[in-house]
Amino acid sequence: MLARALLCVAFLAQLTDCLRPPKYVWPLGNTTVHREVMSGRDAHLPANDQCFVFSDGYPDFPYRALTLTGEDGSFVDFYMRGKSDLNDLAVSMWVFPIGEPEGTIINYMCETGNVIKIAVLESLLFVSFWDEYGVSVGATAVPELLVADAWNHLVISREYESGRIKVFHNGGLVDDIDDDFPNKIPLPGKGSMRLGSSQKDKGDTRFKGRFACFQFYMTTPTEAEVKASKDFCKPDKWKIIPEITLETRTIDGVEKGCVTDYVEPSEMGNAEPKECEVMDMACLVSGLNWNWVLRKNNWKASSRDTAYFHRIAKDQIPTASDNSILGDFFATDKKVCTRACLRVKGCRAFSATPLQPGEVEGESAANATTRCALYKKILEATQDKPGAVYFSLR
Ligand SMILES: *[C@@H]1O[C@H](CO)[C@@H](O)[C@H](O)[C@H]1NC(C)=O
Ligand SMILES: *[C@@H]1O[C@H](CO)[C@@H](O)[C@H](O)[C@H]1NC(C)=O
Repeated sequence: MLARALLCVAFLAQLTDCLRPPKYVWPLGNTTVHREVMSGRDAHLPANDQCFVFSDGYPDFPYRALTLTGEDGSFVDFYMRGKSDLNDLAVSMWVFPIGEPEGTIINYMCETGNVIKIAVLESLLFVSFWDEYGVSVGATAVPELLVADAWNHLVISREYESGRIKVFHNGGLVDDIDDDFPNKIPLPGKGSMRLGSSQKDKGDTRFKGRFACFQFYMTTPTEAEVKASKDFCKPDKWKIIPEITLETRTIDGVEKGCVTDYVEPSEMGNAEPKECEVMDMACLVSGLNWNWVLRKNNWKASSRDTAYFHRIAKDQIPTASDNSILGDFFATDKKVCTRACLRVKGCRAFSATPLQPGEVEGESAANATTRCALYKKILEATQDKPGAVYFSLR
C-alpha cells in the first residue's frame, strides 16, 4: 500500500495503478448490499423494507445485482456528509433497465432542494445540476442513450472550474458540453442521494432496473479513469470486504434477499475517520476511527480491557505463515502494537519491530517507527530481527 503510493508519485502518468480512484464505491451486490467498500460510508436502506430482489449481475463482477422493481420503497439512499462543498465530481454506475428505460435514476438533494437529477424521460437522458439556492448550474440531455434490457455503464461528471458536463456511455464520451453555465459554483457537500427514485418530486416515475457498482468521484475522471472504474467494482480493490448474510424470503411470490442485521448507519457520522495508514493511539481510542480500523482489517473487537503480556523473545520474531497472521501494519510506537493486540479479538501474540531507515517512505508514513504483527497463535520466534520484541498474551 505505502510502496504503491510512492510509485504513483514517481510514475504518475504511466502506471494504471495511479489512476485516481473513486472516493466511494457501493457495489450493490448480494455480497455487499448497502455497504460501502472504500471508506465505510454505508448506504441507508428504506426504513420499512430491507428485502431486495437480486438478479444476474454484470458479467465481470462476482456478485448478483440489486434490482429496483419500481415499487414503493424500492430505492437506496447514500448520505453525503462532506464538511466542505463539492467541486469536481462524477457518478458512475452500471444500470440494466428492465424494459424501456424511464424514470429517475439518481436524485441528490440538500436541505434546500434538488442538486443533481439524472432521469430518463421519453428516451432522453436528462442531467441537471443546481446550486444550494436552486439556481441551475448546468444541464444536458442525451437522446436514446440507455439500452433496454442490457447493461449500460454510465459516467457523468461536472467540472468545477468550467461547469463542463461530460457523459460517458460504455466507456465512450457521448456528450461534452460547456455552455454558459456559471463557472466555479460548488455544490453542497451535505445531502442525500437516492438511487432509483426522486425524493420530493411526486409523480416522477421510479426507475425499474438492476444496478451494480455505484461510485462517487471527487474528481472528473479522464477517459482512462472511466475505463478503470470497473476495477473498483471487484473485491481486490476494496479496502473493506463486508460480511453479509442474507436471508431468503418469498414475499408476494417473489424471492428476496433480506438484510436481517441492518443497523441504520449513524447520523452522527459527520466526520470522516482517520485514514490510519499508520496506526496511532487516536486510531485505537476514538470509536469512529476504531470502527473503521476494525472494518478495514476485517477484525472483530475483543471484549478485553486489561491484559498481561509475557515477553517470549527479543531480537527475534516468528516467521509468519498466512494463517497465523491476524494483522500486519505500521504504527507510531510499540505501545500501539500492545494496545492493538489487546483490543483485537483472537490476538494471542504480537511482535514489534523498529523500522529500518528507508523501510517505508512517503508522507503518510512519516510518523511510523514500528512494524506490528498480530498473531492468532503463539509461534516460535525463529527469524532474526534486531531490536524486535515478541510478546504473548497470558
Ligand atoms: C452472491 O451471488 C453469487 C453468484 O453471483 C454466489 O456465488 C454467492 O454465493 C452469493 N453470495 C451471497 C452472500 O448470497
Ligand atoms: C506526525 O506527528 C506530528 C506530531 O505528533 C503531527 O502533527 C503530524 O500530523 C503527524 N503526521 C502524520 C502524517 O501523521
